[in-house]
Amino acid sequence: MTVSAETETATTPTNLGFGVDVGGSGIKGGVVDLDTGVLVGERFKVLTPQPATPEAVAGGVAEVVAHFDWTGPVGITLPGVVTGGVMRTAANIDKSWIGTAVDELFGSRLGGVPVSVLNDADAAGMAEDAHGAGKDVDGVVMMLTFGTGIGSAILINGTLVPNTELGHLHVGKKEAEHIAASRVKEDKGWSYAKWTEKVSEVLSTYEALFWPTLFIAGGGISRKADKWIPLLTNSTPVVPAKLANTAGIVGAAMAVSQGLRT
Ligand code: BGC
Repeated sequence: MTVSAETETATTPTNLGFGVDVGGSGIKGGVVDLDTGVLVGERFKVLTPQPATPEAVAGGVAEVVAHFDWTGPVGITLPGVVTGGVMRTAANIDKSWIGTAVDELFGSRLGGVPVSVLNDADAAGMAEDAHGAGKDVDGVVMMLTFGTGIGSAILINGTLVPNTELGHLHVGKKEAEHIAASRVKEDKGWSYAKWTEKVSEVLSTYEALFWPTLFIAGGGISRKADKWIPLLTNSTPVVPAKLANTAGIVGAAMAVSQGLRT
């Protein structure tokens, strides 16, 4: 096939970043084209060490970065609240993260490169808002990730309000993530119809408080969106995430390129 010189120039990305997404089962990273929000090449994954202590996870992150010989700034997601470079909560990860100076931990482990450490759902929300399902959507966009817990991100015209933690909002008698995370569906063996009733309750509660223009549903279960999004009974439109398993990596790379500190 002949490719014109013009096409080649147009497709060679020059504005690159690097993101690492730390999850319960894997630590995944890759080089990101910051102009398009697309990964350049494959992502690389190592298993999350157990117990997932700060030192052990930092080792995994360093391994992922070294795999690409990347020596520039690195954005890193964690499944908890991060303020002032310190992790504050650890609902679904080793409790020793609470109070850990994560900027220092990753910065020194990665040889002193600039780092941004932010909440996993916040990173996914930034990526989806800029390059995925929220692209060109005006007003308040709310990203929710359904997995072991429920992660949330709120963006207004591209600006993130970090650490919203809506998975812990009480809906009825329990925290939202204890009734409607996708893990609850698995653990209880619920049908999509049964689980979607709970998700509808959660989304109805969120929309009554925040009035978003759009909900973006992420997490592994968003890949089966056709099985459950049509069953939702809340009012605000819900669309599946578009970047699938790269959103956290892309958002982390965006965060460090913007010098974001939550
Ligand atoms: C944590 C959030 C996180 C979400 C998804 C929740 O339990 O509190 O910080 O974003 O799980 O990992």
